[in-house]
Amino acid sequence: MANEKVFVTRRRVPEAIARLEQHFDVEVWDERTPPPKSVVVEKAGQCQGILSEIDDAIDADVFATTTTLKVLANRAVGMDNVDVAAATRAGIAVSNTPGVLAESCADFAVGLMLCLARNITSSNHSVRNGDWTRFDQMPYLGTDVHGATLGIVGLGGIGTAVARRARGFNMRVLYTSRSPKPEQERSLGVEWRPDLDSLLEESDFVSLHMPLTEETRHLIGAPQLSRMKPTAFLINASRGPTVDTEALYEALQSGTIAGAALDVTDPEPIRADHPLVSMPNVLITPHISSASLATFTNMGLMAADNIVCALTGRPMPSCVNPEVLE
Ligand code: GLV
Repeated sequence: MANEKVFVTRRRVPEAIARLEQHFDVEVWDERTPPPKSVVVEKAGQCQGILSEIDDAIDADVFATTTTLKVLANRAVGMDNVDVAAATRAGIAVSNTPGVLAESCADFAVGLMLCLARNITSSNHSVRNGDWTRFDQMPYLGTDVHGATLGIVGLGGIGTAVARRARGFNMRVLYTSRSPKPEQERSLGVEWRPDLDSLLEESDFVSLHMPLTEETRHLIGAPQLSRMKPTAFLINASRGPTVDTEALYEALQSGTIAGAALDVTDPEPIRADHPLVSMPNVLITPHISSASLATFTNMGLMAADNIVCALTGRPMPSCVNPEVLE
């Protein structure tokens, strides 16, 4: 019997490709940019598995006509690039990569908070530009992180890992999520706020860790930004469209809030000449919060394992639509 076929949409994690090659005929898209949709649709019609990346738009067309595809493994925890409902209708299993990236993403989110509050990256730019000509701290006076109040929106795996780090900084941590989390309240001392407005009003730093869904699109817009303290900072390492970019720009321009650190933007990538990019109180990084080498690799291996398990009849480590397997 011929081997099953798997299409990998980018040559990013060699270890994952090698794992798939132990079981299947593997074809890899060798460009740095995503394969055009027509190619993904064509491969869905020929392969049993696809390993995709978050910059692939996997919409209903990919699942509409295939009679071969059994599993799509997205190398990401966020699933907003995949039409999971369409996959479910077509009986195709879909997986993500939860857990493995939480600690790396939390390291990064805390790093963004420190860099923004204490002008670490901006002062480094000054040194590089030759502006350090005498001892003068005054242009770089920052805001203390220790002892401040951190508001976490979305206390899932990543939000919880951020809260754990914040304890080490002696921060008071508030959170919103659909329901209270008594276990995290006991073990981490975090306090639930049933409404977003109270969290925004009380926090010195607001860090976003929720998935992008229809409910969370533009969750942070002009009304929410106006609830924040003028001394407060926004950190976004979730998905760009959770924040209304135009409203954020206005809020930063007018001093409604003090600054923002964004690992994700809307649009993404953001153009270098976008007015947000050069604002002195804004720090933007290119969607790399999970991107330590180890975590990048482990996410690839987890995606590969999901495909191996799905196609060899074993339980998938992280299927997001398990109803198709019943
Ligand atoms: C990265 O953004 C992910 O969702 O894994």
